[in-house]
Amino acid sequence: MAAEKVYRASTTAPVNIAVVKYWGKRDPKLNLPTNSSLSVTLSQADLRTLTTASCSASYSAAEGDSLILNGEPSDVAGARTQACFRELRTRRAALEAADPSLPKLSTMPVHLVSENNFPTAAGLASSAAGFAALVRAIANLYELPASPSELSKIARQGSGSACRSLFGGYVAWRMGSEADGSDSLADQVAEAAHWPDMRALVLVVSAAKKGVSSTSGMQQTVATSGLFQERISKVVPQNMDLMEKAIKERDFPAFAEVTMRDSNSFHATCADTYPPIFYMNDVSKAAIRAVEAINAAAGRTVAAYTFDAGPNAVIYYLEKDTEAVVGTIHNVLGDIDGWKPAAIEGLKSTVSLDEGVTSTLKAGVSRIIMTGVGEGPIKTDEYLVAEDGTPV
Ligand code: DP6
Repeated sequence: MAAEKVYRASTTAPVNIAVVKYWGKRDPKLNLPTNSSLSVTLSQADLRTLTTASCSASYSAAEGDSLILNGEPSDVAGARTQACFRELRTRRAALEAADPSLPKLSTMPVHLVSENNFPTAAGLASSAAGFAALVRAIANLYELPASPSELSKIARQGSGSACRSLFGGYVAWRMGSEADGSDSLADQVAEAAHWPDMRALVLVVSAAKKGVSSTSGMQQTVATSGLFQERISKVVPQNMDLMEKAIKERDFPAFAEVTMRDSNSFHATCADTYPPIFYMNDVSKAAIRAVEAINAAAGRTVAAYTFDAGPNAVIYYLEKDTEAVVGTIHNVLGDIDGWKPAAIEGLKSTVSLDEGVTSTLKAGVSRIIMTGVGEGPIKTDEYLVAEDGTPV
């Protein structure tokens, strides 16, 4: 008997870092947020997930769907992953019902193999790229005619921030108002090419112990913080408007101020959570002081910091200000972890930082990632599952 065909599709998906933060769920089951958010998609040359989705009638029905992540078997039984599988299968089943000549892929187990091109230990938002790649890869496998916004509603159920990784450039997640989540989706505010000189410098800071997960942290904030109400009703709606305008007009000082204020506001609601949650540590705070010193020395805003649910600093800047921003950070840290940025060769930043800031950064930053704004998921012929169905 001829071996059963193995169907395969591969995609890459990017990481995104929010400049107006998602923090709070109004419906934890459907993963509907308490506020809209906006992010910058980072270049996949430096940070991306590659995922191959495959299915075959020869895959064991008893073993069911599976995922190998960075070489290790990973659990797919969780409600969020199951929601993504269910939504995608339902859409494929509808296509098969409408056209009986289509192979019945919706009835076959799905095997996924996924790899990040950056160390998971870096504590970077890998769940966003991971769920975006999972959804995009299965949608490609099933040949679903769904738009990226349509798929963002599925990825959202895997991890909220993942819905924004279905697009490149500058991306908004509109909170929506429907109870079924049908209008809670991502859309593109501007393509990467609209403002291509945007750069991001990630200062990887090792946390002494694992912090509170975003999922649980935001639930505690919603339940206990009074300040949070002010954030979702006034601060975020205003920041969304200001941020969209800043991006449309390529106004970096405005972009930077909203980015820093929104990060501060988000972390203030964490501190106002009872008991309080602290994601930033002394190294993070030193990074804030460094950005302030860089901006003061330049006499204008050339750099903006932002922090997610962990101590890593992400600093946005424009390429023309590489000397002031990257030059200064490189002066402080030197060639840590083999970091020799070609972009600053021959340039010499003269911004001097406070001794305390310098020593804290030197002791606490373990790695630097220099990247830029980039594209959304890209279909590829690179497969992590061989033609016979074995993981490669
Ligand atoms: C601080 O998307 O990780 O990075 O929906 O529970 O999976 P879940 O949360 P997640 O939260 C991200 C929070 C954030 C801000 C942001 O990315 O907007």
